[in-house]
Amino acid sequence: MNNHNERKKHWDNVYKNKQPDKLSWYEKYPVVSFDMIDATGVGPDANIIDVGGGTSSLAEHLLRNGYRRITVLDIAPSALEMAKERLGDKANDVKWIEADIMDVSLTEDYDVWHDRAVFHFLAGAQDRKRYIDAVKQSLKMGGHIIVATFSIDGPLKCSGLDVVRYSPQTLHNEFGSDFFTLIESIGIEHITPANEKQKFVFCRFKRVR
Ligand SMILES: C[S@@+](CC[C@H](N)C(=O)[O-])C[C@H]1O[C@@H](n2cnc3c(N)ncnc32)[C@H](O)[C@@H]1O
Repeated sequence: MNNHNERKKHWDNVYKNKQPDKLSWYEKYPVVSFDMIDATGVGPDANIIDVGGGTSSLAEHLLRNGYRRITVLDIAPSALEMAKERLGDKANDVKWIEADIMDVSLTEDYDVWHDRAVFHFLAGAQDRKRYIDAVKQSLKMGGHIIVATFSIDGPLKCSGLDVVRYSPQTLHNEFGSDFFTLIESIGIEHITPANEKQKFVFCRFKRVR
């Protein structure tokens, strides 16, 4: 999928055709994501963005734990609508951005950038560069980026699309060891709603340049 319209159509249809809790990446509690954000040590006023947040409950958990400046960005309008609906009145406490992370021009600076299962869909080097350029434009110096991808022995596809699998080292190389320090990585086995096991790796990097 090389262009924005195809990507948007694909992901919007995914959310229109399946209940959020039936999607393979569904998790009831985003425990590892939340713990890694907490481990950054940022306070409740930290500016946090969940890139490709979809219908994840991460924003809800962050709000419940006192974080006040949360942005959820996603390419799929249907996902954002469902996420807002689930939050009810609290949706007003979150900033929602419908955009393609490879085209967007973010206007704020973030302390924490979180991405669970988005970066691994970027099959082309040029797409990965655009994504990493967006990180460099909007992640504060000293800020943290948390990226979860399928691990080296994880699935080859998700949502009918090819993925690139990573180890902490290959992901670090991709982002650039001159710009980011690898702080921690955790391998986990995600159990999908269809009871399949998927190996993920979560990495937390700190921006140093
Ligand atoms: C596998 S889902 C993961 C959703 C969420 N992060 C979670 O953990 O539940 C991938 C998400 O990334 C979004 N996405 C895919 N490509 C994107 C892009 N180029 N820009 C923004 N969002 C994108 C999709 O709409 C979808 O919500």
